[in-house]
Amino acid sequence: MAKFNENFLNLKESYLFSEVAKKVKAFQDKYPERSVIRLGIGDVTLPLGKSVVKAMHEAADEMGSADTFRGYGPEQGYDFLREAIAGYYRSFGVELDPDTIFVSDGAKSDTGNITDLFSKDNTVLIPDPVYPVYVDTNTMNGRNIIYTAGNKENGFLPMPDKNVHADIIYICSPNNPTGACYSEAQLKEWIDYALANDAVILFDSAYESFIADPELPRSIYQIEGAEKCAVEFCSLSKTAGFTGTRCGYTIVPKGIVSKAADGREMSLNKMWNRRQCTKFNGVPYVVQRAAASVFSEEGRKEAKEMTAHYMINAKIISDTMTKLGINFTGGINSPYIWFECPFGMNSWEFFDFMLEKTGVVGTPGAGFGKNGDRWFRLTAFNNEENTREAMKRFETLFEGK
Ligand code: MLT
Repeated sequence: MAKFNENFLNLKESYLFSEVAKKVKAFQDKYPERSVIRLGIGDVTLPLGKSVVKAMHEAADEMGSADTFRGYGPEQGYDFLREAIAGYYRSFGVELDPDTIFVSDGAKSDTGNITDLFSKDNTVLIPDPVYPVYVDTNTMNGRNIIYTAGNKENGFLPMPDKNVHADIIYICSPNNPTGACYSEAQLKEWIDYALANDAVILFDSAYESFIADPELPRSIYQIEGAEKCAVEFCSLSKTAGFTGTRCGYTIVPKGIVSKAADGREMSLNKMWNRRQCTKFNGVPYVVQRAAASVFSEEGRKEAKEMTAHYMINAKIISDTMTKLGINFTGGINSPYIWFECPFGMNSWEFFDFMLEKTGVVGTPGAGFGKNGDRWFRLTAFNNEENTREAMKRFETLFEGK
């Protein structure tokens, strides 16, 4: 009998959002007449922008004609998209070599797949709470994971501890689930720590387009030294409504190098390229054309309008929290609102309670780590009408309390 990867036994029974979906389905089967409002998984609701759809149509037409048809594309992504991404970074002062940009089907896949490049005997430092993919994928590989605590006291922005050594560090900013966002000075501390420890930072910037404060960095490469130690993952899922269309990108600078046991030099950029060429056949041409249009003047305008729309919902939710005197973070530079569970409940208890009483779905903080056990996440990605209705129902939970 083949030996299975027993590290899977160390995972929770199911992935967080599958668990939530299962519970919602059970609720709907039990009460088919009840209306459910989903503020759980961060899935967008607005349609793709007009210019994005136009670019997709045009690309589809090209695929239907012998003289413009395309077969396998470059595994790294088409130059037109890599250059468009480089142009976007230039708009906030970051100069990228297009060879360091790799187009993918999203940040979720890449933050998991990047683990292929690292040996099993690395210590991985992961904030708690955070997006569960980092913990799950390293658990699948059997790596030693240590945690850095995000909590009310540090505003869910843990800082490096120079007495602790790590080889790989995950940072998500704006953070999923807490919405907290690192400043330049804070990221500089992490970069200095990484350089002092010969560590690599895996920086997830999937929510950068929600940063409203011009003082906050949108990319880790805005900070000196990052090009020597940080890989950045980004995605068009939330920026431009691509959760179903699938397109993201990963930046692997050429300056991240290490020596193998036999003294040979290894470059993370070359290794990622090698990995992608072997295991990935690229994002569909039609999708890459659509993605490139997101970075055009018209596309950026459409994306900004989408973000602005979602941020109205974020304000509706955060205003409700303020009104009810509930402690929360996020909702300003992030589409997530992270609040302390009321009534002394833990997060799964509150999930069940709120669903049963109001039909509103959220995400239990415990799914993002042990420090999330008494916290809860709501997303701003539903429409305004549903968000208002959800908050009206949410307030009813507090009547007479
Ligand atoms: C979330 O709700 O945390 C996200 O939608 C998950 C994801 O982006 O994969």
